[in-house]
Amino acid sequence: MPRIRLQNITKQFAKGSRAVDRLNLVIEDSDFVSLLGPSGCGKTTTLRMIAGLETPTEGEIFFDDKCVFSAEKGINISPDKRNVGFLFQNYALWPHMTVRRNIAFGLENMKWEKGKIESRVQEICETMRIAEYIDRYPAELSGGQQQRVAIARTLAPNPRVLLMDEPLSNLDAKLRNDMRAELKRLHLTTGATFIYVTHDQSEAMTLSSKICLMKQGVLQQYCPPLTLYGSPRNLFCADFMGNPTMNFLPCEAQEGKDGITLTTGVFRLRFNPNTPLRLEGKKQLVLGIRPEFVKIVEEEGIESRVVSSLPTGMDTVLALEAGGITLSAVAFGSVDYAMDSAVRFGFEGDRYLLFDAETTEQLAMGSLAIE
Ligand SMILES: Nc1ncnc2c1ncn2[C@@H]1O[C@H](COP(=O)(O)OP(=O)(O)O)[C@@H](O)[C@H]1O
Ligand SMILES: [Mg+2]
Repeated sequence: MPRIRLQNITKQFAKGSRAVDRLNLVIEDSDFVSLLGPSGCGKTTTLRMIAGLETPTEGEIFFDDKCVFSAEKGINISPDKRNVGFLFQNYALWPHMTVRRNIAFGLENMKWEKGKIESRVQEICETMRIAEYIDRYPAELSGGQQQRVAIARTLAPNPRVLLMDEPLSNLDAKLRNDMRAELKRLHLTTGATFIYVTHDQSEAMTLSSKICLMKQGVLQQYCPPLTLYGSPRNLFCADFMGNPTMNFLPCEAQEGKDGITLTTGVFRLRFNPNTPLRLEGKKQLVLGIRPEFVKIVEEEGIESRVVSSLPTGMDTVLALEAGGITLSAVAFGSVDYAMDSAVRFGFEGDRYLLFDAETTEQLAMGSLAIE
């Protein structure tokens, strides 16, 4: 399976702004990479350029050491010669063909021999757990089953790379979850490189080995999901990942001997960076606090009022108001809090983030104490 390298890839549609702007990306062999970002950020365009369905304005694309596209050298290998499978958002099965025929059809076009087609169709139907429906028509299948057929059809020719554009967006929540697990298993069993487009951060978190987070055509961060969640490079990345979202507190910083003092509203907090940090005169910062690090405590801590409490059974999402600031917090377990009741909270661990308010870049990670 190939390593895919995008070098300085730009796509500019006629007269428009850049849909993809100087994208550099290396997708390693057998990676499961998600292209993630809000609608219109260039995910589909990127995927289509890798497939050869869209022509970049600038840059080069390599599959291993083979150049499949170069604007400068005038190279553009056609999609059918790139050996990629493409699963579109609105996959369409042929309604007048059975599952077997839907899958076999593409292989026949590729001039596979009859016996080989039969055994491959059987095999892929077993992998996708649709073997019992093999002689049914699409209309006789549920949405989830149809989706499996579409995946089977894409995987049948053994593509080295599987490109998927929001393939689960038409399924209901329960099915979507099942299919996520299925895709992960499929990734392991096929050993193919998966490139997956989604705007759903939790889908990207749960599926990928790496996430490529984009904003307006520009790559923001490319790393494993937990790195992106735990150490986002800027405010956009921090805000995009996680549900409930990270708390952001604008604050003023003062550097002292034992750490940095942050003033936000009526609070003074001491921030101890995990690695040495020089603020170099920066004063306006943003403190980022994940809701799960806001800890309800019995004594000490900051006194607050429960604005809302939303228990799911597994955990409870709280909105806590203190000194004019509202923070979201997550309490684990089956707990509930009365509206407007008083609770105290503290800060646990050393994964609090400081951002530069002006550039929005992350400056440091550290622990937090109430002064
Ligand atoms: N064929 C096209 N012609 C003109 N503009 C396009 C075309 N396809 C996409 N765009 C524009 O490029 C940008 C990125 O689109 P797209 O890659 O589809 O985003 P995403 O998949 O992340 O939602 C959008 O601003 C979109 O309007
Ligand atoms: Mg899209």
